[in-house]
Amino acid sequence: MQRPKILVACQDRSSRLRLAETFRFRYQTVAVEDGWLALHLVNTTAFEAMVIAERLDSLSGLDVAYSVRQSQRNAAVPIMLVARAITPRIREMVESGVVDRCVDETAETGAFLFEFNSMCGAYAERAWKDLDADVNRVLTTARGAYSSVFKVDTPDVPLEASLLKTVADEVVGAVRSGRITAVMQALQTHDDYTFVHSLSVAAVLAFFGNQIGIRPGDLCIMAQAGFAHDFGKRVMPHAVLYKPGPLDTAQMVVIRRHAAAAGQILRCSQGIPAEVINVGERHHEHLDGTGYPNGLAGRQIDDLSLVAAIGDVFSALVDNRCYKPGYAPEEAIRMLGDMAGPHLEPNLVTKFGEVMHDTGFASWVALPRIAVNG
Ligand SMILES: [Fe+2]
Ligand SMILES: [Fe+2]
Repeated sequence: MQRPKILVACQDRSSRLRLAETFRFRYQTVAVEDGWLALHLVNTTAFEAMVIAERLDSLSGLDVAYSVRQSQRNAAVPIMLVARAITPRIREMVESGVVDRCVDETAETGAFLFEFNSMCGAYAERAWKDLDADVNRVLTTARGAYSSVFKVDTPDVPLEASLLKTVADEVVGAVRSGRITAVMQALQTHDDYTFVHSLSVAAVLAFFGNQIGIRPGDLCIMAQAGFAHDFGKRVMPHAVLYKPGPLDTAQMVVIRRHAAAAGQILRCSQGIPAEVINVGERHHEHLDGTGYPNGLAGRQIDDLSLVAAIGDVFSALVDNRCYKPGYAPEEAIRMLGDMAGPHLEPNLVTKFGEVMHDTGFASWVALPRIAVNG
C-alpha cells in the first residue's frame, strides 16, 4: 500500500531528520528547508498533512502557513506549526484555523507525535458522518467515552460505568450485525493510536467471543474489558507513551505503571464489573510469572485476562511502530504461537489463531499507523 505523503518544512537539519524518521512507517515524508520550495510543493503535490517550522530559509513558516491555507487546494489539510514560542500572533493563527496546532520546537518527539496524531485524528473524524449511521454511532460513542476518560491524567478520577457499557453494547451490536468490519476500516485512517487500540482490542475480543459462542451478556463484558484495558495510559507522560523507538530502562518502569493505574482508575469507579478491573490490571501478566505488575502465574490469572492478553498482543503486533513496520496478520498469529506457553495460554492462542484465520478477520485489523508504547 502506498503511504500518504506529508510535508516537513524545517530549516534545522537535525529536527528535519528526526521528524522524517518519526513518520517513516506511517507516511512518505517530503522534507525541505526552504519556504518558497515548500510553497511550490504544496501547490503541486497532494499532502495528507503538513508540519511547518517557524524558521525556514527565504520565507518564514508563518507566511508559508498563511499562503497554504488560503489556497483552495489545501483548505482542509491539517497543518502543524513548530515555533520558538507561542506569541499572540501564533495564538491568533490557531484560533482562526490558519494552523490546527502549534508545538514548541523544544518539545520532545513523543509529545510532538501526540499532538500530531490528535490533530490528524480530528480530521479523520469529520469523515465519520458520511458513514452508515450505525457505524458512525459506534465510532462517535467510543470516541466520546475515550475523550472523557483521557481528559484527566490522574488515576483517582472515576469514570462513568454507563459510558463504558454503552460503548461495549455498540461494539457487540456491530460484531453481531457484521458492521464491525466497517468500524475497523474507518479506524485505519485515525491517528490517535491509544483510542484506536482501545476500540480495536474491544472489537477483537467481542468478535472472538462471538465466534466461540460466548453469550451476549458476557460479550459485553469482553468488549468493556478490551476498551478499558489501557485506560491506565492516561497517567503516562506523552513523551514516554508516544516516544518513537525502544524505551530505556527508566522509561520502561514508567510505562509498566499503566497496568496498576488502570486497576486504580477502574476500581475507584462505581459499577465497573470485577472482570473488567482484572483485565486492566492483568493484561500484561504472563503464565510463567514474568509479567507485570504483580508477577502472577498460571491459574492466578483469570481466563478473560488471558484472552485479553492475546487480543492486546495481536493488535500491537499488526501495528506499525516507529522502529518497525506492522507485521502481516498471518505473521502476527504465528508470533502469538511462539509466545504460547511461557507467556500466553496455548489453547487460547490456538483457538484465537483458528478463528482469525478462518473468518478473514485478521486481514482488516492491520492498522497502518504509528503505535505507542506499552
Ligand atoms: Fe497495556
Ligand atoms: Fe494494550
